[in-house]
Amino acid sequence: MAENTNLSFFDLVGNVRAMRRLKPDPVPMELIWKILNAGVQAPSGQNTQPWRFVLVSEPAGKKWFADHYKRAIEKRSALTRGASRRREDPGRQLKALYYQIDHMHEVPYLLFVCGKCDWPFKVPEHERVGEGPPNYGAVYPCVQNILLACRALGLGAALTTMHQVFEEELHTYFNIPRDYGVVVTVPIGYPMGNFGPVTRRPAEDLTFIERWG
Ligand SMILES: Cc1cc2nc3c(=O)[nH]c(=O)nc-3n(C[C@H](O)[C@H](O)[C@H](O)COP(=O)(O)O)c2cc1C
Repeated sequence: MAENTNLSFFDLVGNVRAMRRLKPDPVPMELIWKILNAGVQAPSGQNTQPWRFVLVSEPAGKKWFADHYKRAIEKRSALTRGASRRREDPGRQLKALYYQIDHMHEVPYLLFVCGKCDWPFKVPEHERVGEGPPNYGAVYPCVQNILLACRALGLGAALTTMHQVFEEELHTYFNIPRDYGVVVTVPIGYPMGNFGPVTRRPAEDLTFIERWG
């Protein structure tokens, strides 16, 4: 059941932790549309709205992604390299990461948030060779809206980027055109654990007034 949190914005924004342990229970499509429509309220340069979404719920697609994700993370991350090398006493976050890797195929939805490739202004014309990077600056506000909307509806989600290791194959498998990059993969489902506050340094410690230093 979706939880109607009724949290105020400032409580909500401080409660959007990465939720990596998700139940396989189905999530109604109407909630997904609500979430995606919150995503598309984000700003973008000249209102170009350069995001596109690929929503995967079919077992074959999720399994394909989960297998590739696991291989990528085990190859690249010292924390996870091979099941036999996993830490015997992982902390809470690492435990959740292991869970996510092993159960990625079970989540109700995998959402690929794609961004139109678009050279940043600062790259001069003559240096623009091939396809530019996706418009990260425009896509991340959309992603954050999606995470906030998931939280507001009592759904768990986590921002993941490890798919970049096998992005070529990802494009081919899911038929994603080459002029879009896959910026973020968001597994979405009802959380197994509890939501809770994020741990961040306060802005007062990170802000200079008038001049740095
Ligand atoms: C650019 C970016 C890339 C990230 N990549 C991953 C990722 O590949 N896998 C993952 O589990 N979390 C990823 N995260 C989530 C962070 O690990 C997480 O936000 C951070 O550890 C703080 O934890 P919290 O959000 O639960 O407080 C990413 C976050 C950002 C902003």
